[in-house]
Amino acid sequence: MKYYVLFGPPGAGKGTQAGAMAERFHLCHISTGELLRSEIAAGTPLGMEAKALIDAGNLVPDEVVEGMIEAKFDSVKGVDGFLLDGFPRTVAQADALKDMVARRGESVTACVSLMIPDALVHERIAHRAQLEGRADDARDEVVSNRIQNYHSKTEPLIAYYKAAGLYCEIDGVGTIDEVRERIFKVMA
Ligand code: AP5
Ligand code: MG
Repeated sequence: MKYYVLFGPPGAGKGTQAGAMAERFHLCHISTGELLRSEIAAGTPLGMEAKALIDAGNLVPDEVVEGMIEAKFDSVKGVDGFLLDGFPRTVAQADALKDMVARRGESVTACVSLMIPDALVHERIAHRAQLEGRADDARDEVVSNRIQNYHSKTEPLIAYYKAAGLYCEIDGVGTIDEVRERIFKVMA
């Protein structure tokens, strides 16, 4: 089984590229952000707990997302691997992922990192806010907080995966097709 981490700041294009990556390499795409938004929409206790944190641009507790990922690993069959979009996002989550895949006799395959500058994050999210109505896209201060959380809590994973020899950085600036071709080249 392959275990790909799809990494990058908010608006880097993780969700945009994930579908084609999953199709091409027969992976199950798991977006922790999407899973959490489904919980919110369904009004579950977990969703209610997560909503205030997400709407403010803060991370939800590590145990919450780790549990969601493990449940998917346990239940999804018939794929060649998993594409983890937006997970891990902290060093603790990365350690938990390492343990989860080790318990399955496997290891993380690669961290595919989409890189764009902060100014482009604002631009892309402002554009998506017009189209999708995500609560955490609507206010500039929330977007800034997401970027700040990315730099303080998530960016340390670059060094983490570099040290493990698993880090593949891709320039996320360009058309969607150009970025997809760059990704396919490193995953082939
Ligand atoms: P999540 O849903 O993961 O949000 P995010 O990381 O902020 O990333 P986005 O979904 O905003 O960006 P994306 O990279 O998917 O970009 P997209 O492809 O849509 O998480 C939301 C929240 O949930 C978090 O803030 C946190 O609270 C919580 N959460 C989630 N995971 C967690 C975890 N592991 N631990 C704790 N908390 C967690 O693209 C953006 C826009 O740009 C789109 O409009 C798209 O059409 C456009 N676009 C994409 N590529 C291009 C291109 N090449 N050229 C032009 N436009 C492009
Ligand atoms: Mg996304």
